[in-house]
Amino acid sequence: MYARITGTGSYLPARIMTNADMEKVVDTTDEWIRDRTGITQRHIAAAGEYTVDLAEHAARRALQAAGKKAEDIDLIIVATTTPDRIFPSTACLLQQRLGIHGCTAFDVQAVCTGFVYALGIANNFIRAGSTRCALVIGAETLSRIVDWKDRTTCVLFGDGAGAVIVEASDEPGILSSHLHADGSYEHLLNVPYGISHGVDQLRTLDAYITMKGNEVFKVAVNTLGRIVDETLEANHLKKSDINWLVPHQANLRIIQATAKKLSMNMDHVVVTVDKHGNTSAASVPLALDTAVRDGRIKKGETVMLEAFGGGFTWGSVLLKL
Ligand code: ACO
Repeated sequence: MYARITGTGSYLPARIMTNADMEKVVDTTDEWIRDRTGITQRHIAAAGEYTVDLAEHAARRALQAAGKKAEDIDLIIVATTTPDRIFPSTACLLQQRLGIHGCTAFDVQAVCTGFVYALGIANNFIRAGSTRCALVIGAETLSRIVDWKDRTTCVLFGDGAGAVIVEASDEPGILSSHLHADGSYEHLLNVPYGISHGVDQLRTLDAYITMKGNEVFKVAVNTLGRIVDETLEANHLKKSDINWLVPHQANLRIIQATAKKLSMNMDHVVVTVDKHGNTSAASVPLALDTAVRDGRIKKGETVMLEAFGGGFTWGSVLLKL
């Protein structure tokens, strides 16, 4: 029994914020942002548009692509760093939107690696025989937790959602997943306060993303190199067996370094960071959906998904589409 992706979908908020727009907000330039990150624009959620709204659009598109109805779903996992509420989970809010009752539904918090974690978990549910059809989503409104006065972070992030339908199948689908974390790096990338500080105290604190970008960069490049090796070894595959790399979209230079590690031409690496910025848990499924819909990634091809994010967390999923 395999878990196989049978449909993908994604959604981006209508408002596009270009680097020129960003120049009006903080002391930065289009040239600096492009050179250091590859980002030219990002999408920003409208006032009153929340993570569950983005997730619902992406979910409906994935359902349609898979030819499934909402009532076929028996597991919902939403990976998000920016849930709508403290509770219920965004997965439960989405379940209600889709009119589904009774199935397992929960959120996963692994920051930018969230979708890779969620897909690995769905794979285990399906292989254990307890799930037939899972809806797995990465959805974020990162623009709500960036400090719009901090040029070192606000230029990097964007909002969006990506979704996949994963079904039990006799045909090969997900071949392996590799999920890791090391909390000793929490000081390099975090939001320093959360709800356990108390609602009243949180109002007085700067609960925004903080990052030591340079140090994160170095660890990310080394760690993603290692996860590529681990994934290939576990599957007894050579670098040349991988048709497509769908990486977390944090920074074009990190993506290029991972592609080099795989000896992979950039023509076989899906890049959306230029148009989407870093959408955290949404970035991998957004990139996957983009390349499936424009016909680049075809059925039967071998695809490596990988991600790295706050925690630190990191991981990969190797699959046949
Ligand atoms: N515009 C203009 N100048 C800027 C900006 C900006 N937006 N931001 C910083 N600078 C300046 C700095 O002040 C510094 O100036 P100085 O030399 O006078 O002190 C200079 O640019 C260089 O800054 P660095 O931080 O050294 O720049 P770097 O080349 O490292 O690029 C970046 C920064 C893009 C953040 C990079 O380090 C990076 O991409 N890091 C990894 C990010 C990442 O992968 N995060 C993980 C996922 S995110 C998550 O999990 C939520």
